[in-house]
Amino acid sequence: MKTRDYGPLLAELAEAYALYSPKSKALNQRAMRFQVDGGSHALRLIDPFPPRIVAAQGAWLKDEDGHDLLDFWQGHFANILGHNPEVITSVLAQSLGSGWGLQSGFTDRLQIETAEILCRQTGAEKVRFTTSGSLATMYAILLSRAFTGRNLVIKVGGGWHGAQPWALKGIGFHAGAGDGFQEVESDGVPVSITDQVIVTSFSEPDRLRDHFREYGDRVACFIVEPFLGAGGFAPATRQYLQTARELTHQYGAVLIFDEVISGFRFHAGSVGVLYGVQSDLTTFGKIIGGGMPVSAVAGRADIMSLVGRSAGHRVRFSGGTYSAHPASLLAAKTLMSYLVDHEAEIYPHLGELGARVRQLMVAAFLEEGIYARCTGYDDEVLPGSSMFMLHFPYEEDAQLKRPEDWLNPRVCDITLGHKVMDQALLLEDVFMLRSHGAISTAHTEEDLDFLGEACRRVARRIKPYL
Ligand SMILES: Cc1ncc(COP(=O)(O)O)c(C=O)c1O
Repeated sequence: MKTRDYGPLLAELAEAYALYSPKSKALNQRAMRFQVDGGSHALRLIDPFPPRIVAAQGAWLKDEDGHDLLDFWQGHFANILGHNPEVITSVLAQSLGSGWGLQSGFTDRLQIETAEILCRQTGAEKVRFTTSGSLATMYAILLSRAFTGRNLVIKVGGGWHGAQPWALKGIGFHAGAGDGFQEVESDGVPVSITDQVIVTSFSEPDRLRDHFREYGDRVACFIVEPFLGAGGFAPATRQYLQTARELTHQYGAVLIFDEVISGFRFHAGSVGVLYGVQSDLTTFGKIIGGGMPVSAVAGRADIMSLVGRSAGHRVRFSGGTYSAHPASLLAAKTLMSYLVDHEAEIYPHLGELGARVRQLMVAAFLEEGIYARCTGYDDEVLPGSSMFMLHFPYEEDAQLKRPEDWLNPRVCDITLGHKVMDQALLLEDVFMLRSHGAISTAHTEEDLDFLGEACRRVARRIKPYL
């Protein structure tokens, strides 16, 4: 592993940022009094402190210090139309203004309409809504274990399915003797659960085949993101997902596609449809909520029925206080309908902007002699990608093909991609986390020019420290 000393650069950035954003700094000190690390989502609590946001419209944020920040985080990739799009806010404002939206605890016509859209666009037979992607993947795994009467869960190294007991193993790459993705990433999870989680490699059909050969008749499910998210923004090959489908059929296991990121990101539906591979269960979240906390498990009627009356509610996916919350579902239905109606304009445009961002970010660093590579690309299956994740390999000709490459600190400079970039970009009025983000329909060509200029300045600033 190469070691670059970023101490002086990080100190310089932190000092400059404290001077640039004194109000956010003061608020952070106040936040620390009652909130752990000053907030409620670890990734967003940038060191030394995050900007405190007061307004967000389209592609831009305003912070407490009066800075306008160009945002590529976009609601943790949920806000595909940008922040607070009129399409959604007008419907919500009208509804809330007429006294409808916060009366949760009942059921209504809206749930039916939203479920119809989701099933129609994804090939699912039944859906149940819940409130977070983590809950959705947990329920999907519970369903698969109940349906098969088996225990083992196979997941991908680098795959992030939220913070729930079966998903907290094999997320981050750990360099060292046991190089790779085998660690349990949280205290408090019973060993009896983590022992039942087998970690495989993304988009490697032969490895998956080996796992099924070894554990096949004990496997309840294989859960996989068809477009890998936190693990590196990369599409699985069609062959991999087809192999996953064949193996799960052959061994009687449930195939779960986690489409919390990819659902409605590449077209108005699931990417499973684009791959021509129908999972048994699919989880959705982020985009489908239209900016509200909506998630869903959708899939085969016979599996989903385990949550229902006819099966004696065998799986206690019985709902939470805010499940299918009316104001949230109103945003969800409005957004999904909009994406369906405008699919032909929205997605090709997003794909073009995504390609440009990936190209301009890499170019900005290469111009300064800093090796940079972007993932987030589309392929022959995905029509156009609006996602990007920048990596900084130590060597010009480094092989960056899998999470085991770009998340490996021996191959890529992780401190530069994460800590340095977070702070350096903020000083250029650009918000993204750990060098990754997503384009929304609100981003313009001018915004991308702004990003390009910001990256060039960041590259010049960090160059002397490499
Ligand atoms: C693929 C994937 N699954 C599940 C989750 C968890 O969703 P949530 O953060 O809504 O709990 C995430 C969150 O980023 C995700 O990217």
